[in-house]
Amino acid sequence: MSTDRLLGDAYFAQSRQLFERISRTIAGGESSYARLKKGLELCFDHGEGSHFWDIDGHEYIDYSLGYGPLIFGHKPKRVIQAVIEAIERYGTISTFPYELDAEVGELFTELVPGVDLLRFANSGTEATMAAARLARAYTGRPKIVQMEGAYHGWADTHLWSSHPDVWRPQLRPYSPRPIPGSRGIPEVYGEALLIAQYNDRESLERLFAEHGNEIAAVLVEPVQCNSGVILPEPGYLEFLREITRSYGALLIFDEVITGFRLAPGGAQERLGVIPDIATYAKALGAGFPIAAFGGSREVMQLEATNQVMHGGTYTANVVALAAARAVLTEMKTRRDELWAVLNGFGERVREGLREACEAAGLRCIVQGIGPVWHIFFAKPDAPALDRIRNYREAHAYTSIDIYDRFNRAMLRRGVYFHPYHLERWFISTAHSESDVQATLQAAHEAALEVAQSLREQPAADPASLAMPGIAQ
Ligand SMILES: Cc1ncc(COP(=O)(O)O)c(C=O)c1O
Repeated sequence: MSTDRLLGDAYFAQSRQLFERISRTIAGGESSYARLKKGLELCFDHGEGSHFWDIDGHEYIDYSLGYGPLIFGHKPKRVIQAVIEAIERYGTISTFPYELDAEVGELFTELVPGVDLLRFANSGTEATMAAARLARAYTGRPKIVQMEGAYHGWADTHLWSSHPDVWRPQLRPYSPRPIPGSRGIPEVYGEALLIAQYNDRESLERLFAEHGNEIAAVLVEPVQCNSGVILPEPGYLEFLREITRSYGALLIFDEVITGFRLAPGGAQERLGVIPDIATYAKALGAGFPIAAFGGSREVMQLEATNQVMHGGTYTANVVALAAARAVLTEMKTRRDELWAVLNGFGERVREGLREACEAAGLRCIVQGIGPVWHIFFAKPDAPALDRIRNYREAHAYTSIDIYDRFNRAMLRRGVYFHPYHLERWFISTAHSESDVQATLQAAHEAALEVAQSLREQPAADPASLAMPGIAQ
């Protein structure tokens, strides 16, 4: 295992030992490629509310929250209690329908404006695969449009152009040709995809003009949360709604991050645009593994009549549904209170990060909405942008080196956010006023420390953003 160049060997001494032990039997020491890319030697001990502890005894205010599911923080008591009670009542799995199906279905369709009928799945990856298959079946067309820099899970059908290394000369000019995100993905899956630029109407208009009869759907994160956090420009989601409709294609919102987070009804409630199909995971289970996809009654009829196949031994298991019932009940009954915390503290931290960086003379862009945001630090030669509108701009603007330095300076002050420079920050309903104050105090100190370190050693960014081991 490599030594962290900014923290040194001793900081995670226990973690390093445990990680080495894990790596002897678990390939790479982590069971997700996304976790491996964090490059940080930290093993988890326990979490409580907005905080967690590593096995070296460090305590952190958590702004990563298990990649987002922990919308109520670590160990949410009501959800855990509800799951225990449900297991005691039902066991864990039956594969027969039961009351929980009805209860979660009713809560879900009440909260989410565009979902008349839904199906449960086990992960966001599965839900998105199911949504794309449904769109292809409904339209009878083969191709799905995705945005460069988006992430829709790790399936062969979608892990394309997620974080392509556009610094490489042959990938630099924008092209609708998808780039595989892993070795081992058959090229043939790429033939069923086209790549557009988020927030760039022209890139999509061109695709529809050339391939209009072949496009089944535009699959989009309504707020693109996998290249930092990128907000839709005013009118952009409405444009997506109109252009898909006018070409007879479907609009799929991947709400795996935004669902039950931007509002109880997700991005479609908060931003006011209703897709034909939407996918959910993360916040829906508050840490328990559950996902879903759903949409208009007309489109979902193909699932209802079993003309489109979707399944899974573990779909709609007791644990998942009991968790979702508790989560949705909480969101329905305490909506105002919960979103006052998520929106209010979210905005305070964003504002505080901006101020801290400005006071230290660090150029950055902090952007986000409600409980999710990102901070992009400017490279010395970064273009003069006031906001990031797509993956390419994120690339052109961001200094990975400065992000790393700020990340480790915050970590040493007890604030954890994901160390990967394009992975967003989340806040939970468990975060408190004192967490916010401690975070902003840490941010002021960390920004000054980073500014000082840059005077001593200017930013040196790597020449490539490719993830280790991923050939493109
Ligand atoms: C927008 C989006 N879609 C899909 C997925 C895949 O979800 P899962 O990791 O549950 O398979 C993710 C995961 O981070 C995501 O952010």
